Amino acid sequence: MTKQYGVSILGTGSFLPPKVLTNADLEKMVQTSDEWITTRTGIKERRIADEKTATSDLAIEASKKALEEAGVKAEEIEEIIVATITPDMFFPSTACYVQKGLGIKSCAAFDIAAACSGFIYGMSIAKTHIETGLYKKVLLIGAETLSKITDWTDRNTCVLFGDGAGAMVLGRSENGENGVLSVFMGADGNYDYLLNMPGGGSRNPCCQKTIDERLNFLKMSGKEVFKVAVTKMVEAAEEALRISGKELKDIALVIPHQANKRIIDAIAKKLDFPLERVFVNLDKYGNVSAATTIIGLDEARKDGTVKKGDLVELVAFGGGFTWGATLIKL
Ligand code: UT7
Repeated sequence: MTKQYGVSILGTGSFLPPKVLTNADLEKMVQTSDEWITTRTGIKERRIADEKTATSDLAIEASKKALEEAGVKAEEIEEIIVATITPDMFFPSTACYVQKGLGIKSCAAFDIAAACSGFIYGMSIAKTHIETGLYKKVLLIGAETLSKITDWTDRNTCVLFGDGAGAMVLGRSENGENGVLSVFMGADGNYDYLLNMPGGGSRNPCCQKTIDERLNFLKMSGKEVFKVAVTKMVEAAEEALRISGKELKDIALVIPHQANKRIIDAIAKKLDFPLERVFVNLDKYGNVSAATTIIGLDEARKDGTVKKGDLVELVAFGGGFTWGATLIKL
Protein backbone atom coordinates (compact mmCIF):
# COMPACT_ATOMS: atom_id res chain seq x y z
CA MET A 1 0.00 0.00 0.00
CA THR A 2 1.46 3.33 -1.02
CA LYS A 3 0.60 6.10 1.38
CA GLN A 4 0.34 9.30 -0.61
CA TYR A 5 -2.03 11.56 1.26
CA GLY A 6 -2.95 12.56 4.81
CA VAL A 7 -6.48 12.10 6.15
CA SER A 8 -8.52 14.84 7.83
CA ILE A 9 -11.65 14.52 9.93
CA LEU A 10 -13.76 17.24 8.30
CA GLY A 11 -16.94 16.93 10.34
CA THR A 12 -19.03 14.73 12.62
CA GLY A 13 -22.73 14.50 13.40
CA SER A 14 -25.07 12.36 15.45
CA PHE A 15 -28.76 11.72 15.70
CA LEU A 16 -30.75 10.04 18.47
CA PRO A 17 -34.45 9.25 18.10
CA PRO A 18 -36.50 11.43 20.48
CA LYS A 19 -38.34 8.67 22.38
CA VAL A 20 -36.73 8.00 25.76
CA LEU A 21 -37.14 4.66 27.54
CA THR A 22 -36.18 4.98 31.20
CA ASN A 23 -35.27 2.31 33.75
CA ALA A 24 -38.61 3.09 35.41
CA ASP A 25 -40.36 2.25 32.12
CA LEU A 26 -38.49 -1.07 31.99
CA GLU A 27 -39.60 -1.90 35.54
CA LYS A 28 -43.12 -2.11 34.10
CA MET A 29 -42.05 -4.44 31.25
CA VAL A 30 -39.78 -7.06 32.89
CA GLN A 31 -38.75 -8.06 36.40
CA THR A 32 -36.00 -5.52 36.95
CA SER A 33 -35.27 -2.37 38.93
CA ASP A 34 -33.66 0.99 38.35
CA GLU A 35 -31.32 0.07 41.20
CA TRP A 36 -30.13 -3.15 39.49
CA ILE A 37 -29.66 -1.54 36.07
CA THR A 38 -27.87 1.50 37.47
CA THR A 39 -25.47 -0.37 39.75
CA ARG A 40 -24.74 -3.28 37.35
CA THR A 41 -24.47 -1.20 34.13
CA GLY A 42 -24.58 2.58 34.75
CA ILE A 43 -27.44 2.95 32.24
CA LYS A 44 -30.36 5.23 33.22
CA GLU A 45 -32.20 5.57 29.91
CA ARG A 46 -31.92 4.79 26.19
CA ARG A 47 -33.47 6.11 22.95
CA ILE A 48 -35.89 4.02 20.92
CA ALA A 49 -36.80 4.49 17.26
CA ASP A 50 -40.49 4.37 16.39
CA GLU A 51 -42.05 1.60 14.35
CA LYS A 52 -41.62 3.35 11.00
CA THR A 53 -38.00 4.37 11.53
CA ALA A 54 -35.25 2.20 10.07
CA THR A 55 -31.49 2.40 10.62
CA SER A 56 -30.90 4.40 7.42
CA ASP A 57 -33.33 7.09 8.62
CA LEU A 58 -31.15 7.72 11.67
CA ALA A 59 -27.98 7.47 9.55
CA ILE A 60 -29.23 10.06 7.07
CA GLU A 61 -29.98 12.59 9.83
CA ALA A 62 -26.55 12.10 11.42
CA SER A 63 -24.89 12.37 7.98
CA LYS A 64 -26.63 15.65 7.15
CA LYS A 65 -25.22 17.17 10.33
CA ALA A 66 -21.70 15.83 9.62
CA LEU A 67 -21.78 17.13 6.03
CA GLU A 68 -22.98 20.53 7.17
CA GLU A 69 -20.25 20.84 9.75
CA ALA A 70 -17.65 19.69 7.23
CA GLY A 71 -18.88 22.20 4.65
CA VAL A 72 -19.05 19.33 2.16
CA LYS A 73 -21.89 18.91 -0.31
CA ALA A 74 -23.48 15.46 -0.44
CA GLU A 75 -22.53 15.03 -4.12
CA GLU A 76 -18.82 15.41 -3.23
CA ILE A 77 -18.97 12.11 -1.28
CA GLU A 78 -17.32 9.30 -3.24
CA GLU A 79 -17.87 6.47 -0.78
CA ILE A 80 -20.45 5.71 1.93
CA ILE A 81 -19.66 3.06 4.53
CA VAL A 82 -22.28 2.06 7.10
CA ALA A 83 -21.28 -0.04 10.09
CA THR A 84 -24.36 -1.77 11.49
CA ILE A 85 -25.80 -5.05 12.75
CA THR A 86 -29.34 -3.78 12.23
CA PRO A 87 -29.47 -2.99 8.50
CA ASP A 88 -32.78 -1.85 6.96
CA MET A 89 -32.77 -5.17 5.06
CA PHE A 90 -30.23 -7.88 4.22
CA PHE A 91 -29.98 -6.12 0.90
CA PRO A 92 -29.84 -3.51 -0.53
CA SER A 93 -27.21 -2.27 1.89
CA THR A 94 -28.15 0.45 4.37
CA ALA A 95 -25.42 2.53 2.71
CA CYS A 96 -27.42 2.47 -0.54
CA TYR A 97 -30.46 3.80 1.34
CA VAL A 98 -28.28 6.55 2.81
CA GLN A 99 -27.01 7.38 -0.68
CA LYS A 100 -30.59 7.59 -1.94
CA GLY A 101 -31.69 9.68 1.06
CA LEU A 102 -28.85 12.15 0.60
CA GLY A 103 -29.55 12.41 -3.12
CA ILE A 104 -26.08 11.29 -4.21
CA LYS A 105 -26.23 10.10 -7.80
CA SER A 106 -22.99 8.17 -8.00
CA CYS A 107 -20.63 6.82 -5.34
CA ALA A 108 -19.48 3.54 -3.78
CA ALA A 109 -21.80 2.39 -0.98
CA PHE A 110 -21.63 -0.67 1.25
CA ASP A 111 -22.19 -1.94 4.81
CA ILE A 112 -19.75 -3.65 7.12
CA ALA A 113 -20.72 -6.10 9.85
CA ALA A 114 -18.29 -6.11 12.73
CA ALA A 115 -20.87 -5.54 15.48
CA CYS A 116 -19.86 -2.96 18.08
CA SER A 117 -16.37 -2.63 16.54
CA GLY A 118 -17.85 -1.76 13.13
CA PHE A 119 -17.05 1.95 13.22
CA ILE A 120 -13.38 1.25 14.05
CA TYR A 121 -13.19 -1.33 11.23
CA GLY A 122 -14.76 1.30 8.93
CA MET A 123 -12.06 3.80 9.92
CA SER A 124 -9.41 1.44 8.51
CA ILE A 125 -11.21 1.34 5.15
CA ALA A 126 -11.82 5.09 4.95
CA LYS A 127 -8.24 5.80 6.02
CA THR A 128 -6.71 3.47 3.44
CA HIS A 129 -8.92 4.65 0.60
CA ILE A 130 -8.01 8.28 1.24
CA GLU A 131 -4.31 7.69 1.94
CA THR A 132 -3.85 5.77 -1.29
CA GLY A 133 -5.67 8.39 -3.37
CA LEU A 134 -8.63 6.18 -4.30
CA TYR A 135 -11.12 8.71 -2.87
CA LYS A 136 -10.95 12.29 -1.66
CA LYS A 137 -14.08 12.31 0.49
CA VAL A 138 -15.65 9.44 2.44
CA LEU A 139 -18.76 9.34 4.64
CA LEU A 140 -18.41 6.80 7.46
CA ILE A 141 -21.44 6.01 9.61
CA GLY A 142 -22.22 3.87 12.65
CA ALA A 143 -25.99 3.40 12.93
CA GLU A 144 -28.25 1.02 14.82
CA THR A 145 -31.85 0.31 15.69
CA LEU A 146 -31.06 -2.39 18.23
CA SER A 147 -34.55 -2.06 19.70
CA LYS A 148 -35.75 -3.98 16.63
CA ILE A 149 -33.68 -7.08 17.50
CA THR A 150 -34.12 -6.81 21.27
CA ASP A 151 -36.18 -9.44 23.05
CA TRP A 152 -38.34 -7.23 25.25
CA THR A 153 -39.22 -10.23 27.44
CA ASP A 154 -35.57 -11.00 28.30
CA ARG A 155 -34.38 -8.88 31.24
CA ASN A 156 -30.79 -10.08 30.72
CA THR A 157 -30.51 -8.08 27.47
CA CYS A 158 -33.44 -5.68 27.03
CA VAL A 159 -32.14 -3.19 29.61
CA LEU A 160 -28.81 -2.76 27.83
CA PHE A 161 -29.35 -1.50 24.28
CA GLY A 162 -30.61 1.58 22.45
CA ASP A 163 -30.90 3.22 19.02
CA GLY A 164 -28.91 6.02 17.38
CA ALA A 165 -26.46 7.03 14.68
CA GLY A 166 -23.22 8.91 14.26
CA ALA A 167 -21.42 10.00 11.09
CA MET A 168 -18.00 11.29 10.12
CA VAL A 169 -16.85 12.97 6.92
CA LEU A 170 -13.21 12.18 6.17
CA GLY A 171 -11.20 13.85 3.44
CA ARG A 172 -7.74 14.28 1.99
CA SER A 173 -5.87 16.72 4.23
CA GLU A 174 -4.64 19.94 2.68
CA ASN A 175 -1.38 20.21 4.61
CA GLY A 176 -0.38 16.53 4.33
CA GLU A 177 -0.88 15.94 8.07
CA ASN A 178 -2.62 12.73 9.05
CA GLY A 179 -5.63 12.94 11.38
CA VAL A 180 -6.08 9.17 11.58
CA LEU A 181 -2.79 8.06 13.12
CA SER A 182 -3.52 4.37 13.55
CA VAL A 183 -6.17 1.66 13.45
CA PHE A 184 -5.86 -1.72 15.14
CA MET A 185 -8.40 -4.53 14.62
CA GLY A 186 -8.82 -8.02 16.01
CA ALA A 187 -11.37 -10.84 15.97
CA ASP A 188 -11.93 -14.36 17.31
CA GLY A 189 -14.85 -16.27 15.81
CA ASN A 190 -14.52 -19.02 18.42
CA TYR A 191 -16.56 -16.78 20.72
CA ASP A 192 -19.50 -16.63 18.28
CA TYR A 193 -21.88 -18.40 20.69
CA LEU A 194 -21.59 -15.81 23.48
CA LEU A 195 -23.11 -12.89 21.57
CA ASN A 196 -25.19 -13.34 18.45
CA MET A 197 -28.57 -13.33 16.76
CA PRO A 198 -29.04 -16.97 15.71
CA GLY A 199 -32.13 -16.63 13.52
CA GLY A 200 -32.82 -14.99 10.20
CA GLY A 201 -29.56 -15.76 8.38
CA SER A 202 -28.63 -18.74 6.20
CA ARG A 203 -27.89 -20.95 9.25
CA ASN A 204 -31.44 -20.63 10.60
CA PRO A 205 -33.58 -18.90 7.95
CA CYS A 206 -36.55 -17.04 9.31
CA CYS A 207 -39.53 -19.38 9.67
CA GLN A 208 -42.23 -20.16 12.20
CA LYS A 209 -39.76 -22.27 14.22
CA THR A 210 -37.17 -19.45 14.57
CA ILE A 211 -39.95 -17.09 15.56
CA ASP A 212 -41.43 -19.52 18.10
CA GLU A 213 -37.96 -20.12 19.57
CA ARG A 214 -37.26 -16.36 19.64
CA LEU A 215 -34.10 -16.84 17.58
CA ASN A 216 -34.59 -13.56 15.70
CA PHE A 217 -33.45 -11.63 18.74
CA LEU A 218 -30.05 -10.73 20.10
CA LYS A 219 -28.65 -13.24 22.64
CA MET A 220 -25.80 -12.60 25.04
CA SER A 221 -24.01 -14.41 27.86
CA GLY A 222 -23.15 -11.18 29.67
CA LYS A 223 -20.73 -12.42 32.31
CA GLU A 224 -18.49 -14.25 29.82
CA VAL A 225 -18.56 -11.32 27.38
CA PHE A 226 -17.60 -8.92 30.17
CA LYS A 227 -14.26 -10.57 30.93
CA VAL A 228 -13.06 -10.77 27.32
CA ALA A 229 -14.31 -7.23 26.60
CA VAL A 230 -12.02 -5.76 29.26
CA THR A 231 -8.96 -7.74 28.16
CA LYS A 232 -9.39 -7.09 24.46
CA MET A 233 -10.23 -3.39 24.72
CA VAL A 234 -7.11 -2.82 26.84
CA GLU A 235 -5.06 -4.75 24.26
CA ALA A 236 -6.58 -2.78 21.37
CA ALA A 237 -6.04 0.59 23.06
CA GLU A 238 -2.38 -0.29 23.68
CA GLU A 239 -1.82 -1.62 20.15
CA ALA A 240 -3.32 1.42 18.39
CA LEU A 241 -1.16 3.61 20.59
CA ARG A 242 2.00 1.58 19.85
CA ILE A 243 1.38 1.72 16.08
CA SER A 244 0.89 5.50 16.24
CA GLY A 245 4.15 6.05 18.12
CA LYS A 246 2.35 8.20 20.69
CA GLU A 247 2.15 7.76 24.46
CA LEU A 248 -0.87 7.35 26.70
CA LYS A 249 -0.14 10.65 28.45
CA ASP A 250 -0.53 12.47 25.08
CA ILE A 251 -4.18 11.41 24.77
CA ALA A 252 -6.78 14.05 25.66
CA LEU A 253 -9.74 11.65 25.72
CA VAL A 254 -10.42 7.92 25.43
CA ILE A 255 -13.88 7.09 24.08
CA PRO A 256 -14.52 3.43 24.93
CA HIS A 257 -17.44 1.33 23.76
CA GLN A 258 -20.39 2.11 26.04
CA ALA A 259 -21.65 -1.32 27.14
CA ASN A 260 -21.18 -1.14 30.89
CA LYS A 261 -19.72 1.49 33.24
CA ARG A 262 -17.97 -1.28 35.18
CA ILE A 263 -16.17 -2.34 31.99
CA ILE A 264 -15.15 1.27 31.32
CA ASP A 265 -13.81 1.66 34.88
CA ALA A 266 -11.87 -1.62 34.60
CA ILE A 267 -10.27 -0.53 31.31
CA ALA A 268 -9.21 2.84 32.72
CA LYS A 269 -7.72 1.09 35.75
CA LYS A 270 -5.82 -1.50 33.70
CA LEU A 271 -4.49 1.21 31.36
CA ASP A 272 -3.66 3.40 34.36
CA PHE A 273 -5.48 6.25 32.60
CA PRO A 274 -7.40 8.94 34.58
CA LEU A 275 -11.18 8.40 34.57
CA GLU A 276 -11.69 12.17 34.11
CA ARG A 277 -10.33 11.74 30.56
CA VAL A 278 -12.56 8.76 29.74
CA PHE A 279 -15.80 9.59 27.93
CA VAL A 280 -19.11 8.24 29.27
CA ASN A 281 -22.61 8.74 27.84
CA LEU A 282 -24.09 5.26 28.37
CA ASP A 283 -26.27 6.66 31.17
CA LYS A 284 -28.26 8.49 28.42
CA TYR A 285 -28.12 6.05 25.49
CA GLY A 286 -27.12 2.58 26.69
CA ASN A 287 -25.18 0.41 24.25
CA VAL A 288 -25.72 1.57 20.65
CA SER A 289 -23.29 -0.99 19.18
CA ALA A 290 -21.54 0.36 16.03
CA ALA A 291 -22.88 3.88 16.64
CA THR A 292 -21.50 4.20 20.16
CA THR A 293 -17.99 5.58 19.68
CA ILE A 294 -18.90 8.02 16.88
CA ILE A 295 -21.87 9.42 18.84
CA GLY A 296 -19.44 9.87 21.76
CA LEU A 297 -16.86 11.60 19.57
CA ASP A 298 -19.47 13.94 18.13
CA GLU A 299 -20.76 14.86 21.59
CA ALA A 300 -17.24 15.38 22.98
CA ARG A 301 -16.39 17.68 20.06
CA LYS A 302 -19.61 19.65 20.28
CA ASP A 303 -19.58 20.18 24.07
CA GLY A 304 -15.95 21.31 24.06
CA THR A 305 -14.55 18.28 25.92
CA VAL A 306 -12.02 18.02 23.06
CA LYS A 307 -10.76 20.64 20.63
CA LYS A 308 -8.84 20.85 17.38
CA GLY A 309 -5.38 19.31 17.65
CA ASP A 310 -6.32 16.95 20.53
CA LEU A 311 -5.46 13.26 20.36
CA VAL A 312 -8.50 11.04 20.92
CA GLU A 313 -8.62 7.25 21.05
CA LEU A 314 -11.77 5.28 20.19
CA VAL A 315 -11.88 1.69 21.49
CA ALA A 316 -14.57 -0.92 20.87
CA PHE A 317 -15.52 -4.55 21.43
CA GLY A 318 -18.44 -6.63 20.22
CA GLY A 319 -19.97 -9.76 18.75
CA GLY A 320 -17.72 -12.07 16.77
CA PHE A 321 -15.88 -11.39 18.97
CA THR A 322 -14.38 -8.35 17.32
CA TRP A 323 -12.36 -5.53 18.86
CA GLY A 324 -10.39 -2.54 17.72
CA ALA A 325 -9.07 0.93 18.42
CA THR A 326 -8.12 4.01 16.44
CA LEU A 327 -6.01 7.00 17.44
CA ILE A 328 -7.10 10.25 15.81
CA LYS A 329 -5.84 13.83 15.86
CA LEU A 330 -8.70 16.29 15.61
O1 UT7 B 1 -21.65 -4.59 23.18
C1 UT7 B 1 -21.05 -5.84 23.19
C2 UT7 B 1 -20.33 -6.08 24.41
N1 UT7 B 1 -21.23 -6.30 25.51
C3 UT7 B 1 -20.76 -6.23 26.73
O2 UT7 B 1 -19.63 -5.92 26.91
C4 UT7 B 1 -21.67 -6.58 27.87
C5 UT7 B 1 -20.90 -7.32 28.91
N2 UT7 B 1 -21.67 -7.80 30.04
C6 UT7 B 1 -22.24 -6.99 30.97
O3 UT7 B 1 -22.23 -5.78 30.85
C7 UT7 B 1 -22.82 -7.64 32.21
O4 UT7 B 1 -22.43 -8.98 32.25
C8 UT7 B 1 -24.37 -7.57 32.28
C9 UT7 B 1 -24.79 -6.14 32.59
C10 UT7 B 1 -24.99 -8.03 31.00
C11 UT7 B 1 -24.87 -8.44 33.43
O5 UT7 B 1 -24.27 -8.07 34.64
P1 UT7 B 1 -23.66 -9.20 35.62
O6 UT7 B 1 -23.17 -8.51 36.80
O7 UT7 B 1 -22.65 -9.96 34.80
O8 UT7 B 1 -24.92 -10.03 35.98
P2 UT7 B 1 -25.25 -11.58 35.71
O9 UT7 B 1 -25.55 -11.79 34.26
O10 UT7 B 1 -24.19 -12.41 36.31
O11 UT7 B 1 -26.55 -11.73 36.55
C12 UT7 B 1 -26.54 -11.57 37.95
C13 UT7 B 1 -27.96 -11.71 38.46
C14 UT7 B 1 -28.66 -12.97 37.93
O12 UT7 B 1 -29.47 -13.47 38.96
P3 UT7 B 1 -29.00 -14.75 39.81
O13 UT7 B 1 -28.81 -15.85 38.80
O14 UT7 B 1 -27.73 -14.35 40.48
O15 UT7 B 1 -30.16 -14.95 40.74
C15 UT7 B 1 -29.53 -12.43 36.82
O16 UT7 B 1 -30.64 -13.23 36.60
O17 UT7 B 1 -28.76 -10.60 38.03
C16 UT7 B 1 -29.92 -11.09 37.35
N3 UT7 B 1 -30.29 -10.13 36.32
C17 UT7 B 1 -31.12 -9.11 36.54
N4 UT7 B 1 -31.77 -8.69 37.65
C18 UT7 B 1 -32.53 -7.59 37.54
C19 UT7 B 1 -29.89 -10.13 35.02
N5 UT7 B 1 -30.48 -9.09 34.39
C20 UT7 B 1 -31.23 -8.44 35.31
C21 UT7 B 1 -32.06 -7.30 35.25
N6 UT7 B 1 -32.68 -6.91 36.40
N7 UT7 B 1 -32.21 -6.58 34.12
